[in-house]
Amino acid sequence: MLSQNHLHVSLLYIVLLTGTKYGCGGGGCGACTVMVSKYDQLNNRVLHYTVNACLQPICTLHGAAVVTVEGIGSTKTKLHPVQERIAKAHGSQCGFCTPGMVMSMYTLLRNKPHPTMEDIREALGGNLCRCTGYRPIIDGFKTFCDVSNGCCQNGESGGKCCIENGTKQHNDSDISEELFHMDNVLPLDPSQDLIFPPELMIMGKKRACGSLCFQGDRLKLISPVDLTNLLELKTEYPEAPVVVGNTTIGINLLLLKGVHHPLTIYAGRVSDLHTVTWGKDGVSMGAVCTLSSLKEEMERAVREMEAERTRGYQALLQTLRCLAGKQIRNMATIGGNILSANPKYDLNSVLAALDCTLQVMSKENGTRAITLNEELFTGFGKTVLRPDEVLLSIDIPYSKPWEFVSAFRQAQRREFAFSIVNAGMKVLFREGTNIVESLNIYYGGVGPTLVKVGRTCQKLVGRSWGEELLADACRLLEEEVELSDSAHGGKVEYRKTLTTSFFFKFYMQVLQELRERVHIQDSTSVLSSLSKTKCPRDITLSRFLVSNAQSSQDPVGHPMMHQAAFHQATGEAQYYDDIPAVQGELFVYMVTSTRAHAKIINIDPSEALGMTGVVTFLSAGDVPGQNRRMLFNNPEELFAEEEVSCVGQIIGAVVAESREQARRAAQMVKVTYQDLLPVFFTIEEAIQHQSFFDPKRKLERGDMDKAFETVDQILEDEIYLGGQEHFYMETQGLIAVPKGENGELELFVASQHSAYTQEVVGITLGIDSNKITCHVRRLGGAFGGKVMKIASLSAITATAAVKTGRPVRCVLERGDDMLITSGRHPFLGKYKVGYNNDGTIMAADITYYSNGGCTLNESLAIMEKALLHMDNGYKIPNLRGRGLVCKTYLPSYTAFRGFGGPQGLMVMESVLHEVAVKCGLPPQKVREINMYREEECYTHYKQLFSPRDMLRCWDECLDKAGYHDRLQAIQQFNTSNRWKKRGISAVPMKFGVGFSKGFFNQGAALVNIYKDGSVLVAHGGTEMGQGINTKALQIASHILKVPMSSIHIKETCTGNVPNAAPSAASFGTDAVGMAVKVFQRSLASDLFVLSRQLPWTMTIGAYCQKVSLSATGFFMGPHTDMDWENSEGPAYYYFTFGACCSEVEIDCLTGDHKNLRTDIVMDVGRSLNPAIDIGQIEGGFVQGIGLYTIEELQFSLEGVLMTRGPSQYKIPALCDVPPQFNGIGEPPVFLASTIFFAIKEAVAAARRERGLGDSFPLSSPATAERIRMACEDQFTEMAPSPEKGTFKPWSINI
Ligand SMILES: Cc1cc2nc3c(=O)[nH]c(=O)nc-3n(C[C@H](O)[C@H](O)[C@H](O)COP(=O)(O)OP(=O)(O)OC[C@H]3O[C@@H](n4cnc5c(N)ncnc54)[C@H](O)[C@@H]3O)c2cc1C
Ligand code: FES
Ligand code: FES
Repeated sequence: MLSQNHLHVSLLYIVLLTGTKYGCGGGGCGACTVMVSKYDQLNNRVLHYTVNACLQPICTLHGAAVVTVEGIGSTKTKLHPVQERIAKAHGSQCGFCTPGMVMSMYTLLRNKPHPTMEDIREALGGNLCRCTGYRPIIDGFKTFCDVSNGCCQNGESGGKCCIENGTKQHNDSDISEELFHMDNVLPLDPSQDLIFPPELMIMGKKRACGSLCFQGDRLKLISPVDLTNLLELKTEYPEAPVVVGNTTIGINLLLLKGVHHPLTIYAGRVSDLHTVTWGKDGVSMGAVCTLSSLKEEMERAVREMEAERTRGYQALLQTLRCLAGKQIRNMATIGGNILSANPKYDLNSVLAALDCTLQVMSKENGTRAITLNEELFTGFGKTVLRPDEVLLSIDIPYSKPWEFVSAFRQAQRREFAFSIVNAGMKVLFREGTNIVESLNIYYGGVGPTLVKVGRTCQKLVGRSWGEELLADACRLLEEEVELSDSAHGGKVEYRKTLTTSFFFKFYMQVLQELRERVHIQDSTSVLSSLSKTKCPRDITLSRFLVSNAQSSQDPVGHPMMHQAAFHQATGEAQYYDDIPAVQGELFVYMVTSTRAHAKIINIDPSEALGMTGVVTFLSAGDVPGQNRRMLFNNPEELFAEEEVSCVGQIIGAVVAESREQARRAAQMVKVTYQDLLPVFFTIEEAIQHQSFFDPKRKLERGDMDKAFETVDQILEDEIYLGGQEHFYMETQGLIAVPKGENGELELFVASQHSAYTQEVVGITLGIDSNKITCHVRRLGGAFGGKVMKIASLSAITATAAVKTGRPVRCVLERGDDMLITSGRHPFLGKYKVGYNNDGTIMAADITYYSNGGCTLNESLAIMEKALLHMDNGYKIPNLRGRGLVCKTYLPSYTAFRGFGGPQGLMVMESVLHEVAVKCGLPPQKVREINMYREEECYTHYKQLFSPRDMLRCWDECLDKAGYHDRLQAIQQFNTSNRWKKRGISAVPMKFGVGFSKGFFNQGAALVNIYKDGSVLVAHGGTEMGQGINTKALQIASHILKVPMSSIHIKETCTGNVPNAAPSAASFGTDAVGMAVKVFQRSLASDLFVLSRQLPWTMTIGAYCQKVSLSATGFFMGPHTDMDWENSEGPAYYYFTFGACCSEVEIDCLTGDHKNLRTDIVMDVGRSLNPAIDIGQIEGGFVQGIGLYTIEELQFSLEGVLMTRGPSQYKIPALCDVPPQFNGIGEPPVFLASTIFFAIKEAVAAARRERGLGDSFPLSSPATAERIRMACEDQFTEMAPSPEKGTFKPWSINI
């Protein structure tokens, strides 16, 4: 008997091995990637392909073999080369994505032992990593390519690789020569691979003999063996959905809680539906062929057939290359894509344009053919297929002579993202002419179903392909594409603009080809919308510093591999949810508010309590101690008591025997509310309501009023920066285990600040901290998001454990995690700046508003950091910053890597940029004019520092990046390309390290030496991918002069090192490192005296001489302290400096952008571990790419977060990393603002060409929508913004 969960989203949970990770549950992250092998009877071969285990129904795997990361290698036996290489290349930081990456690569090698770079990119396109920035992963994996010497491997330039055509750029210090060595790695030996189980082979070769039926407690799945059987079932159970890949049905189950299909029919075993038949008119693809097999068939046809016949297939391929990730394409079927009837899915618009036909069949009426056009779809998710019909196949015709086809799609992210608008276009010309004989234009994403612009097409038939037709077509399209201003999905003007822009692209593409055949009068000679940029596809890192001063025995200064990398790569590394269930364990699921501001009238859990498996319900009244979590005297309720002040606020929690039972029951808890006023969400509204938290902060130097009187010019403007979701790959959670004796409690928790969690749990339970022990082995990423909210979740889970007397597990689902825990603060910076005409800024008065959400949480400290960083590297003599944290009815915003720094700096850089624009000077020049230059400088809060290293970084960065030459090349490019523009930008950076709240600047470590000479180190930091344990080991090894292999770090535990500060503010390593070092004074001195007489391994001698072999090291960090009344520091321990230069290219017609190249120069002092430090720089930078260009949170008018998973919220994927990426901790996030400003430069170039001013508003993130709409032209003019107040927008900018 299988549960409902097991029938559908089961493989992940069924395997009971821990290597396959849960990151999203919806196919959007790749953490759960496994390899499936199946015998393919039609072609007599074994197929190996990746799938997302979270969407793979177990019942559909009859006869298949599944290989998880544990199956390919282990530290106990032998690593697989893939596991070894990702680890050695430093491609595993927190390690949560690593098993998925390994399985994608492993599967590629099973199919192709000598892959190209392009193969690797394709294989990893569906795997997200939030830590590494992808480069080290690619570095490790590209060693499997035939040429692994830094060659681009893609042969883009007419089949030649970079080495062959002489463009290889880096040869003196390539990464592979320095950061890791592949000399002693295991060779790939395919003969060692697991064989396909012979019993499955025998079974596969036999004719399958009957239907399979899987019966669960709430539902049933039948898997018919042949078509007759399938049709009979469909006749008998017409309402039962046919499931194949489960990538739509599975997602619907996930999103539309409550969707329940008592019976499902799995059609994947019906061989008739797999058939591919090539005929004289085209190909007939079986409905259950996967998108991967469709892609393969199309590629083969394009390769083998004459180009004219395959134009349609080429267009289809264009779409298929960007559609989803490899795993989804391996699971998803053509039939499923079409019949899901989702206009965001890409195939329908192209297939309809190609005049494809569907063959459908039912038992009653036999076969019928249906044309794939707009009439197939009767509504969102609905088609004209009768309930008893199944789709057999799709006929995709060859193209005719004089026929031209194109497909277009634009998405939030370049790859692995649903399209915002997609289109398929086909035109047939009268032979030998440019007269249109027929025209098909279909759009997806501009209505609830597929849209054919029939009127437009009709009116253009018989017309010549020329400028007049273009003008009329755009006008007609504007009239025909109807999209209400309040349309679902928002982005209305953008979507309308895309429809005409896509047509324009099509027009130009066809024109270009047509010109080669017939003479055409046309002056639209600027064809650059078509040219594909040739940029290297590999990600190269050209230089970095590795200290050679150190002996090779001493690990400090060397690029040591992450201490747990092998365990992470084999799936053996244990995260909190990998801990096996303790006997009697229960599961807790949160009940959250659905209203933004309301009084709680009643909470009725009775229905939930009556459900199977439910043990209890908790709310405020169940908390034995205080229902509050405190931070610097700011209380936050654990459970809302009387009122709720945001959607997503925790009101109660259901405790049940299993996850599924707790989840289902939580939905049954009825909460009655009485809505309250006011309710508002945006910064603008908070300003109107004067809704701010106290205290408000101010920093000031100089005399503002006087300065404004004397300057040449005054500029007033503002910039808005959106928030950001942490999207750590491991969601928040913990296990609370009551120990039974003396009220002791153990927590295995994903916390970045275990001491705080311990404190909050103690206050909640009313017991002393000494009875609560928090254990943190590692976190699957944190980035500041696992400090505060996890303490509340821990307190709630602990309450459940105490109330039931049983262990309780809490694991947030991705959507709940995004809803409940919130992320980086949105900011609005309003500024008044006084400057002289030469670009010198004399005065800047900036008011920062952050959206703090409904409680203060850490918002004040974050605002303070923004203010403390507002000067960046610029000496502005009169500078004032005011910081106001807005109180709104949203979930409380919290810490995120950079902690307000990226926002504070960004506003100042906007000021610099705008002043440069107004002065008509290059921004880099204005930056240089205003930089701190004297050897002794003071910040605007009077902290002394020297900008020497910043200036060095800046000069070196511009020099290495070839800034000036490239600027010229860009200007040339922009002159000769009308629809593609490039921009380049560089910024310097000064970033404070350490906590401005001085008491946090401390660290402690405990070192135990055992009689056998082995050493156990414990410290207060948390390993979350940043390599703190590795560095601690390096330092311990350096100090004790013992090999790293003799030193062990088990976990972070409040019982070993008490009262530890959070691992944050880029200070964790400093604190822990210094603590380990300090311990030398206590323990080591005695021991060292002794060690002169005894070799290290004879510590037993020391023991016999009664020398203590255990000691603590405590590092008392600097006494930073801010006097806010007098604007006086010191606020930071020290400053780190850097500079960055980025170049981008934008497509003015779609808003798409490519990051072409980034150069970072960072001063990291003397690096303890260059591999880890570079990893942190790159990882931080790529998170910054997300912050400033892609990641967009959308809220409804009711304050409901709508972007609650990787399908809606896009973090950077492999495709977003600059192909040339030349480069601690937190600071580099901000450096990605160079991409934002480079985009702004590129947009300005487009605007200048159209006679528009190059001063224009651009909010962050610079999404495709914002870029496109800023490149104003005739197409954007056709989609004017409606007046505010005349419509209900779909989402709001909070
Ligand atoms: C993370 C993710 C990213 C994605 N990205 C994209 C993207 O970028 N572009 C895009 O176009 N799509 C994308 N998709 C959607 C994906 O392509 C579709 O979900 C998939 O093609 C559906 O096929 P399936 O076999 O999984 O369908 P299923 O989920 O199994 O079924 C879907 C529907 O089709 C019906 N059905 C299927 N086959 C038949 C048949 N033979 N006869 C009758 N009814 C049938 C089912 O009853 C059901 O209603 C993405 C999906 C995910 C999960
Ligand atoms: S957990 Fe399966 S793809 Fe994210
Ligand atoms: S290492 Fe990839 S998500 Fe952390």
